[in-house]
Amino acid sequence: DVIEVGALTGNGYFTYDPGFVSTAACESKITYIDGNAGILLHGGYPIEQLAEQSDYLETCYLLLYGKLPNSTEKETFVNKVRMHTMVNDQMSTFFKGFRRDAHPMAIMCGVVGALSAFYHDSLDIADEKHREISAIRLIAKMPTLAAMTYKYTIGQPFMYPQNHLSYSENFLHMMFGNPCEPSNVNPVLAKAMDTIFLLHADHEQNASTSTVRLAGSTGANPFACISAGIAALWGPSHGGANEAVLNMLEEIGDESNVDACVARAKDKNDPFRLMGFGHRVYKNFDPRAKVMKQVADEVLGELGIDDPLLKVAKRLEQIALEDPYFVEKKLYPNVDFYSGIILKAIGIPTSMFTVIFALGRTPGWIAHWSEMHASASRIGRPRQLYTGPEQRDFVKLEDRD
Ligand code: ACO
Repeated sequence: DVIEVGALTGNGYFTYDPGFVSTAACESKITYIDGNAGILLHGGYPIEQLAEQSDYLETCYLLLYGKLPNSTEKETFVNKVRMHTMVNDQMSTFFKGFRRDAHPMAIMCGVVGALSAFYHDSLDIADEKHREISAIRLIAKMPTLAAMTYKYTIGQPFMYPQNHLSYSENFLHMMFGNPCEPSNVNPVLAKAMDTIFLLHADHEQNASTSTVRLAGSTGANPFACISAGIAALWGPSHGGANEAVLNMLEEIGDESNVDACVARAKDKNDPFRLMGFGHRVYKNFDPRAKVMKQVADEVLGELGIDDPLLKVAKRLEQIALEDPYFVEKKLYPNVDFYSGIILKAIGIPTSMFTVIFALGRTPGWIAHWSEMHASASRIGRPRQLYTGPEQRDFVKLEDRD
């Protein structure tokens, strides 16, 4: 209902579609969403089946190559990722330029973009092998950079990756390990971490992926494009919502305060929104949120944690789902609603939540970037409806009012 047709001098007509509610900017084979039915498929496979039976790196392979790997292909891919987990030693000096109290997403925008200064052997975006090595480097180095970011902000030494560990174990080892002690990662937490990464791996043309595509359409360096995607993800309307959800749950504090919070969200004079609720595409349950809720129950149960925030979240969900305001507007919990509770149980600080999202989303970003460059594509160049003054003559400074 927001589409209007605007006249364009010289070049025919274009659609006016603020927020790109109804504009497809590309074709893609990677991910399918049916927002009304609450369906999410990667390469045709339902997200629920991937979360239960696959793992993050296998899903990365699926996004990049369009099929599930056989066992040899999987082993080769996992080994390639393992070979690239280290970052250039110069990166550690790069970190030192940041304040220790910088937001981790600010550091991530910088350090991931800085990777573009290191890999001059793979700059031909038309070459499939060059695109592939950039994708593998990114997927391999994101956990290392994310963990370095965290260690830097808390003043602890950086940890080297341990390549005998799985992808998610290695991430937790670099986050919480101590250089003086052997790695000691809880396998239940590593599995939960892996599922969180997998649930975030791709979501077609969301704001950050569209940003990566738009930046990439100019032929820009892939690491710089991913840095642009990280910047777009940071906002609270997108990936930053996971941090905002936990802050909101903590502010609510107790189940008895939930009604007041829902009332605020419904008040048109109050800008407050229920964080973790609503989605541009899903007008039904976000299937990732359902899996996330299950994982939250499993992780907290396994660790014997009785987090009052989980009770607050469940109560909030129950009330909102029964409230006519949320029912009419089709506002359901999204992927960010339960992820924070799991991340908190794992020991990840709130300020790192969106970094976790960025790490998980990296294969999606780079798969879309690569898919775009695999076929003839044009530079992305949206139009606008001009609403400024008509042409007028310049007024000299001394003649202005
Ligand atoms: N709480 C209360 N009301 C809401 C909420 C919410 N979380 N979300 C939407 N609404 C209301 C709006 O006020 C609007 O009401 P109106 O029609 O009376 O003006 C209506 O629902 C439609 O909302 P829009 O903002 O127009 O929907 P849009 O598709 O542009 O935005 C968004 C989607 C940004 C996700 C929105 O629902 C929101 O702000 N949610 C909270 C933040 C959040 O959880 N973001 C994470 C999204 S998922 C992701 O990025 C992984």
